[in-house]
Amino acid sequence: MYSIETRDLTKKYGDFVAVDHISFTVKRGEIFGLLGPNGAGKTTTIKMLTGLTPPTEGDALVAGFSIVRNPIEVKSRIGWISSEVILDDDLTGWENLEIQARLTGVKNWKERATELLKYFGILEFKDRKAGKFSTGMRKKLEIAMALLNSPEVIFMDEPTIGLDVNTRATMWNLIRQINKDYEVTVLLTTHYMEEADSLCNRLGIINKGRIIAMDTPEELKNKYGGDVIEIELKPGAKLNVSLENTQVTDSRVRIRVNNAESALMDVIRAVGGDNIKGIRVNKSSLDVVFINLTGGTMEEQEFDARRFYAMIRRARR
Ligand SMILES: Nc1ncnc2c1ncn2[C@@H]1O[C@H](COP(=O)(O)OP(=O)(O)O)[C@@H](O)[C@H]1O
Ligand SMILES: [Mg+2]
Repeated sequence: MYSIETRDLTKKYGDFVAVDHISFTVKRGEIFGLLGPNGAGKTTTIKMLTGLTPPTEGDALVAGFSIVRNPIEVKSRIGWISSEVILDDDLTGWENLEIQARLTGVKNWKERATELLKYFGILEFKDRKAGKFSTGMRKKLEIAMALLNSPEVIFMDEPTIGLDVNTRATMWNLIRQINKDYEVTVLLTTHYMEEADSLCNRLGIINKGRIIAMDTPEELKNKYGGDVIEIELKPGAKLNVSLENTQVTDSRVRIRVNNAESALMDVIRAVGGDNIKGIRVNKSSLDVVFINLTGGTMEEQEFDARRFYAMIRRARR
């Protein structure tokens, strides 16, 4: 039984393809993550799945209804937490919930709101202005608002972006708890590898609008993991390397090996000690999975996007 099924879901802005024929399924009760760098198409995907923007091509069933043909049915069965602020700071916690109830058309919302505030341990603060809430309390109130209409699926766009380490850990626990206690399917996006690794049952790695791999974090590491030795080269380094699984750019060499420690000496010898400015070892992790799938780190992929836009701006001039 699926909570989300997408088929060739696509969004174009003019000629630019922000989301490119993505197809995936999320089982009921899963925590599914879309992991990818800035500009990968994560928010656009969520906007289509929550009915905020129509797809250019393709379709998705969310809670059993088509986002193209039945967006209203979809909206009544989902909750959504954006990465931007959604609380009105001048209103109390309770008033924020009331607005949410009106927006989503929930009847008898007061009972549900009271139950949720109790669940999150913030009932005693319900008449305090949201602007006076701590970050942790704000997050709880936002989740309570998203749960108000008893959704089957909750969408969270970068739920922990900008949070300090402690609040992030609290947020991860809250997401696990509501997934279990309210049996709500969670689709979240993130560009934090540790978040995807620790929180998600399954992941889709998204880059440049496409899903390039999808599996459990463990399987992704089994399939695309391994260690990566990264060597920063001195300017003008003269290389004569022919190693397997090696990418060479002007300033660095990346070599994928089974075990970095045992391969390190051979690699240094092959590259030539005189050419080496620095060495970094990435042990198998989702970072390494991403490097192996795309040939670069998430930061470098973002850099690509910026370069692309600079090129477009130049061409327009
Ligand atoms: N309204 C829009 N008009 C034109 N381009 C857009 C619009 N929204 C997003 N994009 C572009 O689509 C790409 C994907 O954006 P987005 O889905 O926000 O990525 P992410 O959430 O993964 O960072 C980016 O290159 C972004 O600049
Ligand atoms: Mg985004």
